[in-house]
Amino acid sequence: MRMGVAILNFMTPDEAQHRHNQIADRIRMHDEAYYIHDRPTISDQEYDQLYRELLDLEKVFSNLAGIDSPSQRVGGAPLSSFDSVRHRTPLLSLDNTYSHNEVGQFTARLQRLLPNEKLDWIVEPKVDGLAINLRYENGRLSVGATRGDGVEGDNITANLKTIRGLPLQIKTPLHGSVPKCFEVRGEVFLRKKAFAKLNLDRLASGEEAFANARNAASGSLKQLDPREVAKRHLDLIIYGLGFIETEGEPPFRTHAEALRWLTALGFKTPERTWACQEPEEIISALNALDQIRKSFDYETDGAVIKLNHLGLRERAGFTSKAPRWAMAYKYAEEKAETKLIGITIQVGRTGALTPVAELQPVLLSGSTISRATLHNEDELRRKDIRIGDTVIIKKAGEVIPAVVGVVIEKRTGSETLFEFPNACPECQGSIERTQTPDGTGVVWRCKNLECPAQVRARFEHWCCRGAMDIEGGGEVLAKQLVAHQVARDVSDLYQISLPQLAGLERMGEKSAGTFLEGLEASKTRDLWRLLFALGILHVGTRTAKSLGLHFSTLDDLALASVEHLEKLDDIGTVIAESLTKWFSDERNQALIERLRLAGLNFSSELFRSEITGKARPLDGMTFVLTGSLPTLTREEATAQIESAGGKVNTSVSKKTTYVLAGKEAGSKLDKAQKLGVKIIDEPSFLKLMGE
Ligand code: IVH
Repeated sequence: MRMGVAILNFMTPDEAQHRHNQIADRIRMHDEAYYIHDRPTISDQEYDQLYRELLDLEKVFSNLAGIDSPSQRVGGAPLSSFDSVRHRTPLLSLDNTYSHNEVGQFTARLQRLLPNEKLDWIVEPKVDGLAINLRYENGRLSVGATRGDGVEGDNITANLKTIRGLPLQIKTPLHGSVPKCFEVRGEVFLRKKAFAKLNLDRLASGEEAFANARNAASGSLKQLDPREVAKRHLDLIIYGLGFIETEGEPPFRTHAEALRWLTALGFKTPERTWACQEPEEIISALNALDQIRKSFDYETDGAVIKLNHLGLRERAGFTSKAPRWAMAYKYAEEKAETKLIGITIQVGRTGALTPVAELQPVLLSGSTISRATLHNEDELRRKDIRIGDTVIIKKAGEVIPAVVGVVIEKRTGSETLFEFPNACPECQGSIERTQTPDGTGVVWRCKNLECPAQVRARFEHWCCRGAMDIEGGGEVLAKQLVAHQVARDVSDLYQISLPQLAGLERMGEKSAGTFLEGLEASKTRDLWRLLFALGILHVGTRTAKSLGLHFSTLDDLALASVEHLEKLDDIGTVIAESLTKWFSDERNQALIERLRLAGLNFSSELFRSEITGKARPLDGMTFVLTGSLPTLTREEATAQIESAGGKVNTSVSKKTTYVLAGKEAGSKLDKAQKLGVKIIDEPSFLKLMGE
């Protein structure tokens, strides 16, 4: 049972410490069950409750928020850059092959090098992510770093701590002691589901989708704000050890034993491994892994074959860049070759211009592909893709087909360069080059808000399930509404009549009625849905919810400054600037007024009270402070009002709920009396808060 903050105030520091230890242990146990063993032992709701109690305790007893607390996974201020760290032993790469034959040559080579030894091998999945190194000192994570150049990497400890499957503190193994200092190596990656969700969110907020899960994981680790990284839900697998400082012998002699030891310490290790005694068994293991790896919830691009005995590894040694005792076997990607017939430009809801490859239809992983994304102009230039080229396509992240390259040998000389348009292909309006919020890409955008392609996409977006959820408002209707000039912007939807709708092609009276009912119902949707539906650049559902939680009304949000917005959870400078730019555009202001007239809900009170669990005593009330109060300072009174859901304004108007007046109150008091606004003193205010 979670205790309220008020009750926590009556705890002694010892009681609080005891309770904190209990909760922290339970959270660690559930984290391990969920993130390491994939076996949740508690519902999400119960977990959230535990976590909130932990935070509540730390709010009252701030000394409890120590480095070991589960709360410290997501924290810390954004960095301005990453420091460099030197790895205790270098992180090397692996020799690669695509051929079974070369795998045979690799094992034979090692046998020649170690002629009198019986060699055995471990085959593991090669996870397609980013290599990282974690240093543990006295059982605690001290530094986490990228591979970098193998000798030095970036210190990304704060980002890595957000990965729930990463132990901040290791467990004591049953056998042997924990080394004083050691480094483990692993791969950070995004699970397929987390990747799909991230891309959907990015597309919904007008950002470019990541081409694959690896790029998404890499882009996430490069973020300077750990809170942003936490939202990406990265994962980690540890596949080996680097430096280790032990008293006496390390508690393992083989790789298989080392993996078991790492598991006992609380690390997530490869989910399947194959122990092979003979070279032929390695080939069977490679085939077996290829059969099952598609069912894994993350991308693998091959297998790693490793000599099992660590002592023999030492004798085999290294070349300048890779160990002699391991090799990566890569599976050929599912790719197809086809002709690029043309390039079209798709204009999205936020005006983003995406080049699309029009292809001669070809079969790839079971489906016929005739279009593939070319991402953006920079990508097109980098790959030197020309119309008429024979191109190679593959499925990126299992879903979106993408063009990966050109078969240069098949060029005939008749191929033509694609001229990226210098105006919007749909409305001929001017376009501008913009940066994505994470700074990883450049996108051309059409600046014309009335561009028919943008309008169509905005209608569709307005009606989609995540936004205003209006049945029947899909692509077909959007096209007709624009083509027949029935509606120019989303506010016009609320003026459409039944006969007007029923007159459109493929629209019977019944579906017209359903759509109108949907429109009516949409008038009472939560403010966050409206915000998301408005299609403001970079405002996805998460940002919209965060805004809905903070602001009581759309009008309050419209008045907020960049500085104010930046202070909110989930909102950085790029989003804050995008919001203020949108609200300062007169055309958007006019749209808001038309939506207000149509009767749409602009208030977030319902959502806020649902989220906070109860309506707050001053929700929807505005206060003006004047004069000096007997006990409270102006700042304290403001903080109390805001934390109870109220707002503080500087000038009195008819809309002011209360003027809180103290000694030597001035003209504000006179104005309140004139307008008939209620005036209260500090004791009445405190009573109001108490109620
Ligand atoms: S062992 C001395 N095991 O593949 C290097 N690497 O191409 C030992 N990788 O940089 C690496 N899964 O980031 C190893 N099970 C696995 C792996 C793995 C993915 C990555 C690793 C490495 C790259 C080499």
